[in-house]
Amino acid sequence: MFSEEEQTSPTSSSSSPPPSSHFIGRKEDVIQAKRVTKLVGGRDVLVLCHQGKLHAMDMRCYHTGGPLQEGDIEEFDGRMCIVCPWHKYKITLAEGEGLYQAVNPSATPPKPTWRSKGVKQRVHQVTEVNRDVYVTFNDSPDTIDSDFYQTERYRATMNKAQPKTKKLQEKVTSRKV
Ligand code: FES
Repeated sequence: MFSEEEQTSPTSSSSSPPPSSHFIGRKEDVIQAKRVTKLVGGRDVLVLCHQGKLHAMDMRCYHTGGPLQEGDIEEFDGRMCIVCPWHKYKITLAEGEGLYQAVNPSATPPKPTWRSKGVKQRVHQVTEVNRDVYVTFNDSPDTIDSDFYQTERYRATMNKAQPKTKKLQEKVTSRKV
């Protein structure tokens, strides 16, 4: 049933959970779900399994907080990326770099090339212990753009906005009927 299960090689494996790590779930459940989101240690993280490898990153896109758990995974310039469903920003799974295409207008013919904006999304370490999956936060002291969408202030704003969105959706649905 879990065709990817035996191939899965998380970022690292260990005999005990790393200090300060957060339990995400059983490995088979993560593989079956393909994508798991969880609020752990005050952070919303996305853990996904792609081509037998587990990855973890902040759940909301660094651009304006899009739900990365709904993004497609595609390869750009030889690098696997998650594509944000809101504005199609491309984020590398391994490093959290934002990729974009640039064109040199003076080149003939102008040829688009892939460039990196640098690390924009905070990616985290995944560890497997006895088929349990843990995430250890990337504790780089440098501010990373996706950090903004992990703040309590942003979460409170989202929670306030949600009832309005729900009401609007109900209105749209009742109009359709
Ligand atoms: S919110 Fe992700 S691309 Fe805009």
